[in-house]
Amino acid sequence: MQTMEKRLSVHVSTPYDVVICRGALQNLGAYIRNVHKGTSLMVVTDSHVEKWYLEEAAASLRAAGYRVETFVFPAGEESKCAKTYLALLNALAEKGLTRTDLIVALGGGVVGDMAGFAAATYLRGIPYVQIPTTLLSMVDSSVGGKTAIDLPAGKNLCGAFYQPALVLCDPDVLATLPEDVFCAGCAEVIKYGFIGDRALLESILHMPIRQQPEEIIFRSVAMKRDIVQKDERDTGLRQLLNFGHTFGHAIEKLSKYTLSHGQAVAMGMDMMCKAAVRRGFCDAQVTDLMEKLLRAYGLEQKVPFSAADIYRTALQDKKRDAECVALVIPVRPGTCELKKVSVSDLLFFAEEGLKA
Ligand code: GLY
Repeated sequence: MQTMEKRLSVHVSTPYDVVICRGALQNLGAYIRNVHKGTSLMVVTDSHVEKWYLEEAAASLRAAGYRVETFVFPAGEESKCAKTYLALLNALAEKGLTRTDLIVALGGGVVGDMAGFAAATYLRGIPYVQIPTTLLSMVDSSVGGKTAIDLPAGKNLCGAFYQPALVLCDPDVLATLPEDVFCAGCAEVIKYGFIGDRALLESILHMPIRQQPEEIIFRSVAMKRDIVQKDERDTGLRQLLNFGHTFGHAIEKLSKYTLSHGQAVAMGMDMMCKAAVRRGFCDAQVTDLMEKLLRAYGLEQKVPFSAADIYRTALQDKKRDAECVALVIPVRPGTCELKKVSVSDLLFFAEEGLKA
């Protein structure tokens, strides 16, 4: 079923639209025709999404007159590596894609990040569109132009800022998402609420995100849009989007990626709320609300690592300078502030974040 679309324009160095519309995947070809006049394209997807949506997407693209090539890789974070990236570049070259052709990233964050990075670097840059198929990629990773692959030393250590020509979200595809993967995306929605939209927190507390996906995706993307328009290259304000991520990334890495990004970010946000209350930045209504929301979305889980391990791993994060780390600290539900803390202070935050 196709319903009325919601559309947001993102005014950055290369502007583009984010479209949210149920049933949009059936009309993928027509949407792409509006932004791309070339003849050939490469649909990049993973082995999970392939089963559900590749055929439908490719059929719509062929009907719109495109020559459609496909590149499918095994699902999972471990595929977001140099080996798969080089295989994708080779496939693009073998199929003869040129600078006037297009990459279509059909999938979650791993697909979007890697296909986007291939688009940024193949022939020194060809256009790409993001068709996110998870809640997390709809509300976060598909918007804002961050593309990357992982290195053995850490996540997203090799990448580029490179904006898509279009982001097309079809909330109907969320129906086939496993519950834990859906809930991982809810963690990022909770993040948006805490950093800037208290009404969003109330809304998702009273009505499940599954029952109002278009509205929630729209409000989350609107907030991200407003932030990246002011700080496209992540030198200041955009760091607000890292609420819960300093400890979250460390937890994710310590778990050897057996914990999903969303689960780890949920733990990181909970730690930051607890530490912020203990340090007097905010009162207990922040931790109460965070805990209620994490419980409601199946994200309440004990952190399985020590403060010392989380601290040590967080220090390897690329988002820090020699002496300081920028932490996102809640001051009340719906408002966070960026605060530079010394590297040594970070250990105290980790310890206080783990106290019951
Ligand atoms: N996911 C955080 C950012 O795009 O900056």
